[in-house]
Amino acid sequence: MTVLPYKEQDASKKEQVAQMFDNISPKYDFLNHLLSGGIDILWRKKAIKLLRPANPKTILDIATGTGDFAIEALALKPDKIVGVDISEGMLSFGREKIRKLGMENVIELQKGDSERLPFQDNTFDAVIVSFGVRNFENLEKGLTDMARVMRVGGTCIVLEFSKPKHFPFKQLYNFYFKFILPVIGKIVSKDNAAYTYLPESVQAFPDGDDFLKVFQKAGFTQTQCLPLTFGISTIYIGRK
Ligand SMILES: C[S@@+](CC[C@H](N)C(=O)[O-])C[C@H]1O[C@@H](n2cnc3c(N)ncnc32)[C@H](O)[C@@H]1O
Repeated sequence: MTVLPYKEQDASKKEQVAQMFDNISPKYDFLNHLLSGGIDILWRKKAIKLLRPANPKTILDIATGTGDFAIEALALKPDKIVGVDISEGMLSFGREKIRKLGMENVIELQKGDSERLPFQDNTFDAVIVSFGVRNFENLEKGLTDMARVMRVGGTCIVLEFSKPKHFPFKQLYNFYFKFILPVIGKIVSKDNAAYTYLPESVQAFPDGDDFLKVFQKAGFTQTQCLPLTFGISTIYIGRK
C-alpha cells in the first residue's frame, strides 16, 4: 500500500512528496537535527566514510534536498558532485548553503526525478542517497535508474530509516516516533501531515534483507547492509 502525505488529495505520491518538502523546506534542517538529537549528522558522516576506499571523482546525490549528504561528500575531495531533487524549495535552501561554503564550483544542484534521471548510462563513479528512497513513488524504478547512471565498478550508498527490532529499544523508539515526533514536527513546520507521514512511511518501507532484494533486482551486486544505532537507520551498499 502506498503511503501518502496528504491522504485527502488525489495528486500522485510524487506530487504530494514534492509539495510536502516545499512546505517544510524552511524548517527541514532545524527539525532534522532537533528530532534526531543530531545523530543524522553522524549517520551521513559514517556513510560517506564507507565510500573513501572507492575514491570517487564524480558523485551523484539523489534526493539531495537541502544538500547535507552532498556537502558531507566534499570530505572525499571529488571533482564534481551533482545533487538532484524534485522539490525546488529544498534545492533553493541547499544552493544557499553551498554558496555560503564557496563550493558552487564542486557541487551543482538541479531539479530532477530519480525515476527519470537526466544523465547518460555509466556516468558517475558513485551514486548516493540519504533518506530519499522511502519517498520514491516507484522504488524499483528509482533504484534501477540509479544503477543505470552509475559506471561499472562504481559504488552506491543508500542511507535510510529502518525499524528497530529488539525490546526495549523498539518500544521506546516507536512511542517517540509515533507520538512525540509528529507533535513537535507539526508545531515547528506548520505542516499537519509531514511528520505523521514520516513514521507511517518508515513502517511501510522494506528494510534489511527486504530492501536488499529490491536493491539487487534493480541491478546492484555485492550488496551489504549495516544497521546503525539499534537499527533506527541502515546503510546499504551496492556495486555494479
Ligand atoms: C527526507 S529528504 C532527504 C534530503 C537529504 N538527502 C538529507 O539527507 O537530508 C527526502 C528528499 O527526497 C526528495 N525526493 C522524493 N522523491 C524524489 C524523486 N523521485 N526524485 C528526486 N528526489 C526525490 C524530496 O523532495 C526530499 O527533498
